[in-house]
Amino acid sequence: MPTNRTFTMIKPDAVADGFSGPIIQQIEAAGFKIIAIKKVHLSKEEAGKFYAIHAERPFYQSLCDYMSSGAIIPMVLEKDNAVEDFRKLIGSTNPEQAAEGTIRKQFARSLESNAIHGSDSDENAAIEAAFFFSEKELA
Ligand code: PPS
Repeated sequence: MPTNRTFTMIKPDAVADGFSGPIIQQIEAAGFKIIAIKKVHLSKEEAGKFYAIHAERPFYQSLCDYMSSGAIIPMVLEKDNAVEDFRKLIGSTNPEQAAEGTIRKQFARSLESNAIHGSDSDENAAIEAAFFFSEKELA
């Protein structure tokens, strides 16, 4: 995947709360182009595979329960400096610590239900995009 791309998912809390539209609008207004998008409902097993890197962390089971509790919207986005700029746009993992105007500050319910994911490196963005999208969908 080109290095000017990142991967994101709108998480179950934000989809259920009806925030998908406003979140996508803010992503596009910030200059990100949507390369691929779909709506899916992960099984707990699939969520466990996606978050396998966090398997030893105390919140792993509850994270997998949460991420399989409802529909999510995975997307691949393109922009110069995509990974870093997108992490700034979404704000800190804990919405209470997120800066004003960030997506998590506006739309997240809590640390556990924090509205949106953003890849933390070009390498992980490519791995995470390939979890949800085929090569053809990313072309
Ligand atoms: S990050 O974004 O990777 O730097 O954040 P990190 O703190 O390492 O957290 C990794 C993912 O786990 C989620 N998380 C939690 N879920 C449930 N309970 C608690 N306490 C908790 N702490 C962190 C966090 O939202 C990250 O999810 P993603 O989807 O990667 O953003």
